[in-house]
Amino acid sequence: MSDSILRVDDPCKPLDFDLSRPLEIEVGCGKGKFLTARAKENPDCDFLGIERMLERVRLFDGKCRRGNIANAKVLRLEALYTFHYLLPAHHVRRVYVFFPDPWPKKKHRSHRLFGPLFLNALWKRLEIGGKIEFATDHKEYFEAVCEFFAADVRFKPVEPMARPPQVWTEFETMFRGQGLPIYSAAWKSLPAEDGELEPLKIPPEAEPREGIARR
Ligand SMILES: C[S@@+](CC[C@H](N)C(=O)[O-])C[C@H]1O[C@@H](n2cnc3c(N)ncnc32)[C@H](O)[C@@H]1O
Repeated sequence: MSDSILRVDDPCKPLDFDLSRPLEIEVGCGKGKFLTARAKENPDCDFLGIERMLERVRLFDGKCRRGNIANAKVLRLEALYTFHYLLPAHHVRRVYVFFPDPWPKKKHRSHRLFGPLFLNALWKRLEIGGKIEFATDHKEYFEAVCEFFAADVRFKPVEPMARPPQVWTEFETMFRGQGLPIYSAAWKSLPAEDGELEPLKIPPEAEPREGIARR
């Protein structure tokens, strides 16, 4: 039995966090290369990976065990749902979204993570001044995400973090190896009128899916 895989007995009950410690979250953390390296470097912060593929969750867990990393956990759940219902308000210091599935076909775009629903939940979970870091190899998705943020007065663009090769994710390593251009951006959250999030209403065609051919 592993210590790093978070068990969710009741998916309607918000998760427990130690609010005296900062929290950073990676959405779609894959096998955990980036987040476990960051957790090892920053023992005074807690880290949560959200990843829906079981095999990748297990590989993340293996990295924590081999590296004796106690401050990183991984949750096998859908990210939008997790942000909407399970995280504390205005506590997360940084959110990382690296190489999210781009869903390049027009008819599949509603499966993308970034959109007004995610930005709402993201703002609610970030501490004021907290940052979201984003990178992708997909130019059109990058431009669409930048437009979403530009239209939302609760976020301001900031310089993206430096990502030297030792912190590249698995996909970043692969894409850079193929010589593909990588697009990065970051935003910080600003004070704004706060309120409760409305219950999620997702049309059936936009329900998250296990992706097949997404590229
Ligand atoms: C293209 S991979 C990138 C993995 C990692 N970020 C990297 O750069 O190596 C996208 C990952 O996000 C996960 N994922 C996609 N949508 C998700 C969602 N809605 N909730 C949780 N995980 C998701 C996928 O299972 C996959 O592991």
